[in-house]
Amino acid sequence: MQTAALKDQYENFPFPPLQIGALAHVAPPPADARFACWYTRRQWPLNPLRILDAGCGTGFSTLKLSEANPDAQIVALDISQNALQIAGQRLAAAGWLQHGKHWQHPQHSGQIALLQADLQALPDLGHFDYLHCSGVIHHLPDPLRGLRHLRRSLSDQGVAYLMVYAGASRQMIAQIQQVLQLLWRDPTDWREGLMLCRSLLRDLPEGHPFQQHYQQACQTVGELLGPEVAYSDAFLVDTYLQRCEHRWSQPEWFTLLRQAGFAPARWLDESSWQPAQYLPGLPDYLQRLSPEARWALADQLRPAQHFALYVLPEALSVPDLPTLQPDQAVCVPHFIQLQHREESHWLDNGRGQQLRLDTACTFAWQHLKRQPAPISWQSLWQAVQQAYPEYPATEFWHFARLLLQHEFVGLLVSKALT
Ligand SMILES: C[S@@+](CC[C@H](N)C(=O)[O-])C[C@H]1O[C@@H](n2cnc3c(N)ncnc32)[C@H](O)[C@@H]1O
Repeated sequence: MQTAALKDQYENFPFPPLQIGALAHVAPPPADARFACWYTRRQWPLNPLRILDAGCGTGFSTLKLSEANPDAQIVALDISQNALQIAGQRLAAAGWLQHGKHWQHPQHSGQIALLQADLQALPDLGHFDYLHCSGVIHHLPDPLRGLRHLRRSLSDQGVAYLMVYAGASRQMIAQIQQVLQLLWRDPTDWREGLMLCRSLLRDLPEGHPFQQHYQQACQTVGELLGPEVAYSDAFLVDTYLQRCEHRWSQPEWFTLLRQAGFAPARWLDESSWQPAQYLPGLPDYLQRLSPEARWALADQLRPAQHFALYVLPEALSVPDLPTLQPDQAVCVPHFIQLQHREESHWLDNGRGQQLRLDTACTFAWQHLKRQPAPISWQSLWQAVQQAYPEYPATEFWHFARLLLQHEFVGLLVSKALT
């Protein structure tokens, strides 16, 4: 029954309510499947990948996955037929052509299939190398069942990126949801629900915590996805009139993952999970805590919005970074773009580290990005020497080490370094 009610919600209010063609420039880090393999396993797979976008909604993530992995076979599934229809329109507007069940792009060798299916009762779709499931599992009436289906779909060498809400950040939302449930007389009547929701958030006394929360949420979502999402009916429904929402602490979420057979590997935003930065007076004590105890502490200490996590089919401690060797081939993640601000060039790895580049390093980065196939550090250094004969070798190799150390790049290694 709850699944039917949830389906009804996303048929009526497909999510995200992004206009076709919106945010074309945004490439979220978890879209790059090869980077996910490097980040978790220190592998950089060469073969075309099979990717599952589980709960793809209106296809924004699907489009980003296809841009980041142009040779991948992608299956994008959702329970909402209306969301999938918008996903198809989004693909068509980006130049994809439909051939029977598949979509193809003149400039990509990969394919996309859009599929209506329930994550809690998946048909056999074979194994995938990369699973992308963002903002979905906390809405499933039976999250463990959904996770188990996902786990069965992941190949032994695969990686999954899972994003769920951080429970602690949703307490105010839970209160608003409860108040609306008390007021809403006919929960099948979306117009009534939306009318109540809008008047509650508008008419409460100035400064009421609900109002403050809503204004803050609109600002954050507006900055991230634009005002048409922040002020949409679909955002109100997805947030405050939501049919089903689980809220987990970090330890609870990890327990559920393990029950489903997933092993947590790495946070996308790893630097934000170090509690020492919030408790600078206690570093010695914190050093003695296990990583999971530190994460549980960070979960309590700072208001994380999401648990954005890469997981693997089995426990594997992430191998150390390899040391830099001049003849090793360098791979550049799709999503790291050169930025220009304050009259300098910067790299941002999307996970908390930023690097300021001088002119020669800017040239080096642009040269790396232009290469159709990975080149070695040594070839890169030769290109820099040609363009900037006076540039000191020590500066270049320092830059190369920083790129590696903060995972702005990966190295081409054929199997995991254990
Ligand atoms: C909040 S939206 C997230 C959409 C997309 N992943 C994103 O990040 O933009 C949740 C999506 O999960 C889908 N969904 C909910 N329950 C599902 C189920 N049982 N099986 C498949 N999809 C489901 C909804 O239809 C909706 O499109």
